[in-house]
Amino acid sequence: MQKLLIKGKKYLNGSISISGSKNATLPILAASILANNTKLRNVPLVKDIFTMTNLLKFIGIKIKVCTKKKTIELVNNNRNINTLAPYKLVKTMRAGILVLGPLLTKYKKAKVSLPGGCAIGTRPVDLHLLALKKLGAKIKIKDGYIIAEAKTGLFGANIKFPSTSVGATENALIAAHGAKGKTILSNCAIEPEILDLISFLKKLGSKIKISGRKISIEGKEISTNKINHKVIFDRIEAGTYLVAGALIGKKITIKKIVPKILKYEISILKKMGAKITYANNFISIKKSKYLKKASVSTKPYPGFPTDLQAQLMVLMTQAQGLSIIKENIFENRFMHVPELRRMGAKIKIKNKTAYIYGPTKLTGAEVMATDLRASVSLVLAGLIADNRTIINRIYHLDRGYEYLEKKLKNCKAAVKRV
Ligand code: UD1
Repeated sequence: MQKLLIKGKKYLNGSISISGSKNATLPILAASILANNTKLRNVPLVKDIFTMTNLLKFIGIKIKVCTKKKTIELVNNNRNINTLAPYKLVKTMRAGILVLGPLLTKYKKAKVSLPGGCAIGTRPVDLHLLALKKLGAKIKIKDGYIIAEAKTGLFGANIKFPSTSVGATENALIAAHGAKGKTILSNCAIEPEILDLISFLKKLGSKIKISGRKISIEGKEISTNKINHKVIFDRIEAGTYLVAGALIGKKITIKKIVPKILKYEISILKKMGAKITYANNFISIKKSKYLKKASVSTKPYPGFPTDLQAQLMVLMTQAQGLSIIKENIFENRFMHVPELRRMGAKIKIKNKTAYIYGPTKLTGAEVMATDLRASVSLVLAGLIADNRTIINRIYHLDRGYEYLEKKLKNCKAAVKRV
């Protein structure tokens, strides 16, 4: 099994180009079921994307991935589409559930494996099902599968989500594209990745309006045009390298981004003392000698993202005084804490809240990655730790970070995969 070896305390210096967003590419790939011919650009070549393309191939979509150009072309001219998403293709990635909406709306039926539990929490799919039922689907759960049917197609409806979910908003939007009439979704997630999906659906012919957390959508007959779409940058990857810069950057420039999307993250890093400058499409960040404590609660966008919580916590171990993180999105998202403690961090957990006492000196240790973002927090800790850190189970990192070692090495980090 592959491991990552990091020799800490080396100043980072250089620039990092941010890849396309994994979390935007996944729903857009699922929505491509609705189109005949799609070309996606700026696609990150990470494991989760290949899991989704394998699922789409199983369904009957022709797919061509060009690794050099970072494009995926999809052609759906198959009359014998398989409306099944089997367990073996969905079990490793929850976003597999996103094919439910498009299959149901286009082919009037779908059988999709329940994604099952996940290390960071129970992650149910009730909100996805609630929306699809409101659009007219008949749904039952049998033998671990969601079996959905809409014999006469889906119909526009008013749907108010009882709580905000990224995936459920995406599934509902894609399904509403193929529904007859207008759908109004309230209490939606409005993450930048959802706005990217919306711009893709507009290219497919949907009329979509957004006002706060309310989205109205009037779909269209299936589009036969060739759709060409460039995926938005990965704001979580950008945020991760910003934290790296705040931890140990002589100067890191983060490129191919839109800084205003990272407004909240930038404001927290600045408040903590990181030295940041930015223009329209890049941010430069330098470590400061003195980091101040901070308190952060994770919230749906435009709040602080749960996907950057573990990374920020590493920065907080280097800040003066007591920093606090309240995790509001997932119930079990502090799995990096025991590993960070083994490296010397002083962190206490009480219910949903982590109390981080700093500054503490971190020392290298052999640690284990548990999920995607927890893993990358251990990489960040390794970059500032004394001696060598060995990170096991790095397949988690490969699910979502494109060319991680290469990007860090370009900035002079001592990172090696063995
Ligand atoms: C997406 C992101 C993930 C991110 C998360 C929150 C992708 C592929 N993944 O995951 O990286 O951490 O948003 O920003 O984009 N919930 C329910 N019922 C449901 C659906 C969700 O109770 O039917 C709950 C979840 O358990 C969780 C909360 O709602 O507590 C938010 O989850 P959601 O926004 O749906 O996350 P994902 O779409 O799975």
